[in-house]
Amino acid sequence: TEVHYYDFVLKDANFTKMCSTKSMLTVNGSFPGPTIQARKGDTMFVNVINQGTYGVTIHWHGVKQPRNPWYDGPENITQCPIAAGSNFTYKVILSTEEGTLWWHAHSDWTRATVHGAIVILPARGKYYPFPKPYKEQTIILASWFKGDVMAIISNSIASGANPSIEDGYTINGEPGDFYGCSNETTYRLSVEYDKTYLLRIVNAGMNEDQFFGIANHSLTVVAQDAAYIKPINTSYIMITPGQTMDVLFTANQNPSNYYMAFSPFHDSVVTFANSTATAIVQYEGNYSIPSSPFFPPLPAYNDMDAAQNFTKRIKSLANKKYPVNVPKNITTRIFIAVSLNSLLCPNSSCDTESGDRTAASLNNVSFDTPQIDILEAYYGSLNNVFDRDFPSQPPFFFNFTGNVSNVSEYTAQGTKTRMIKYGEAVEIVYQGTNLGSASSHPMHIHGFSFYLVGTGTGNFDNVTHPLTYNLVDPPKVNTFNLIKNGWATIRFVANNPGVWFMHCHFDRHATWGMDTVLIVKNGSTAKTSMLPRPVYMPPCS
Ligand code: C2O
Ligand code: CU
Repeated sequence: TEVHYYDFVLKDANFTKMCSTKSMLTVNGSFPGPTIQARKGDTMFVNVINQGTYGVTIHWHGVKQPRNPWYDGPENITQCPIAAGSNFTYKVILSTEEGTLWWHAHSDWTRATVHGAIVILPARGKYYPFPKPYKEQTIILASWFKGDVMAIISNSIASGANPSIEDGYTINGEPGDFYGCSNETTYRLSVEYDKTYLLRIVNAGMNEDQFFGIANHSLTVVAQDAAYIKPINTSYIMITPGQTMDVLFTANQNPSNYYMAFSPFHDSVVTFANSTATAIVQYEGNYSIPSSPFFPPLPAYNDMDAAQNFTKRIKSLANKKYPVNVPKNITTRIFIAVSLNSLLCPNSSCDTESGDRTAASLNNVSFDTPQIDILEAYYGSLNNVFDRDFPSQPPFFFNFTGNVSNVSEYTAQGTKTRMIKYGEAVEIVYQGTNLGSASSHPMHIHGFSFYLVGTGTGNFDNVTHPLTYNLVDPPKVNTFNLIKNGWATIRFVANNPGVWFMHCHFDRHATWGMDTVLIVKNGSTAKTSMLPRPVYMPPCS
């Protein structure tokens, strides 16, 4: 295995998109930020030099960082921010991941502009479980706000109102032909006739699931979240924020120009940016260029069936070389109600000045981020930073899909974590609710990949639904879409000691408290314990 070194300089840079210019935080002045690449099992050192004006952290989304929570990155969970004017070198330890992952800032909403791809190739001398593509290209789907994202989120927190929505979306930093002032910079992927390309697609967007497709071309999905799946032939994919998908396509159509495009799958009542980002797949050679490229027929924004039909097809490759090991004898069960409900603010103890505000919760706890990071507090046995009593089920009986326009169950803030013994076989059932309002939720856990063994609509039934679980070839992921008013069950072995954030990857929901922390305790040997604290960690305050 090899060691790779990267410098990430956080600095402000000016960008003009959709007819307006702003200064924003970037890595090395680029948007999206640099791709970092390694092979399975390698180690990367990334020196983050903060030349910006506020503290930031970086997270390696989907990298399990075995026994190494110190360099995982979520702000005030595993570290305090890297202050402006200082630097911090992350040690990113790759283990079983192979495929595409991504990195992003993990401080408030800074990830809107601070993100990039992580490409993990097979170990030296090893190959993909599919024929080698002619070329590979990272495709980063992102949100674009004309305003400053930090201002948008602080205004939202101060007012208790929904943050302003995206002004549009981008593919590899470019909005494409459907937005004002954008058609001269539309991202173009030039292809040769009959060659096969591997697209490493990342949904780095802030708040929306997306449908993605390429006009006239069939897609073959071969990996999700840096784990191989049984190839799926499809005309579109549905990808939630946080997810990554590796997709093959062959340039086998009449040489011409074809749009690659994405637009939201949106199933909640919150207003959203219903618009389309495009790029152009452009065949090389001489042909008459159409006045406008062909367009892919993406599903309508509210086409729940289209979203589900695609997602349900995803299965692990599950063969001798890529085995599946779903835990069978579960020793720790957790049931989590995932809700958008209101926070009662009796006095000034909430983030807002007056009155109730919108909030999000897990088992009716709306996560309150501490001032000192939980990892430091746990490791150093500091009191009064976090509690260890995240409930194993919601505190009240509830019909999770009933009509609850009159919400009597307010949520309360807390910094509650869930302690898990090393080696436990964990099952978590997530139940979407419509307390307040219903929505889908891309749930994500740091430090693990887990098997998504079952999903369904309506209330979870603990007699009949477990009979439907797929224990043979379920997908192994780090983020999954909990469908609106539905349930999902995941399983994993708690073999990674550390402090691991778990949250909805819609930033709107995460900011409102749809988060908690799993603390996996040390095992009985050094090899089953957290690595020691690095000598230098960014100081808190
Ligand atoms: Cu993309 Cu907390 O992560
Ligand atoms: Cu959510």
